[in-house]
Amino acid sequence: MYNHLQLSQKFLYYYLTASNGKGHGVHSPFVFDFIKNVLLDKKVYDCYHSVEDYRKLLLSNKELIEVEDFGAGSSLTPSNSRRVNDIARSSVKSKKYGQLLFRIVQYYQPAVLLELGTSLGITSSYLSFGNPSAKLFTCEGAGSIAAIAQKNFDSMSLDNMEIIVGDFSKTLPSLLANLKNIDFAFVDGNHRKSSTINYFQQLLGYSKSTSIFVMDDIHWSSEMEEAWIYIQNHPSVTLTIDLFFIGIVSVNPDYKVKQHFKIRF
Ligand SMILES: C[S@@+](CC[C@H](N)C(=O)[O-])C[C@H]1O[C@@H](n2cnc3c(N)ncnc32)[C@H](O)[C@@H]1O
Repeated sequence: MYNHLQLSQKFLYYYLTASNGKGHGVHSPFVFDFIKNVLLDKKVYDCYHSVEDYRKLLLSNKELIEVEDFGAGSSLTPSNSRRVNDIARSSVKSKKYGQLLFRIVQYYQPAVLLELGTSLGITSSYLSFGNPSAKLFTCEGAGSIAAIAQKNFDSMSLDNMEIIVGDFSKTLPSLLANLKNIDFAFVDGNHRKSSTINYFQQLLGYSKSTSIFVMDDIHWSSEMEEAWIYIQNHPSVTLTIDLFFIGIVSVNPDYKVKQHFKIRF
């Protein structure tokens, strides 16, 4: 994992070299439409309040819970006891990105969604609100954390999702075996290079031309940057968008020339 200074330098480089986020000079209809209708959509949707209220509750929850450690992905010290508020502060996507993920789902209306790394269910809630008629499978290894997320889903009456508890290495293959396609995936679990590539390869087997995969923390460490380069170079990948804290991937074969975009967000 890069230290704060390294990450700040990387962010500065991204910011200076990315296109301005207004869509000027972007020669991809998909990306232009994405910028205009998703990235720049400033409307405050009702669910933003519900999810952020839930985040506030978690941030004030000092309960200690026993948590199985599932490796890279948290900036917390490796200990089996963690406070809920520490998890909410360090392991969960920010409001800005959670709301962007909501807008992606709301705009493209994927029918089958997968999230690797439920944690406390903040981003899962955004995804669920994005398309209430979709089915969302969200995978989490730590049973105690998943139980808190489940309580939240029940309290918000989010009934279009299912939490699958267990190590991704076991749960993902069996989950995928029961699905035909994945229309949208958010990969936000184990931040190791080999695992990230492995999950991506499994997802590819269930992709269709309109599938959108979102990879989290693509600049978090040298391993994650290598995984992102691997994904960009994969022959099935036709378009990627680097927003620094997440990377968006399309495998649509209609985009005949592979293109990579870096957009300020
Ligand atoms: C960064 S958090 C997910 C945050 C969540 N997507 C959000 O933004 O609200 C990553 C989660 O993935 C889980 N995880 C990491 N590696 C895993 C593995 N190999 N199997 C199962 N769960 C894993 C961790 O327990 C942790 O709760």
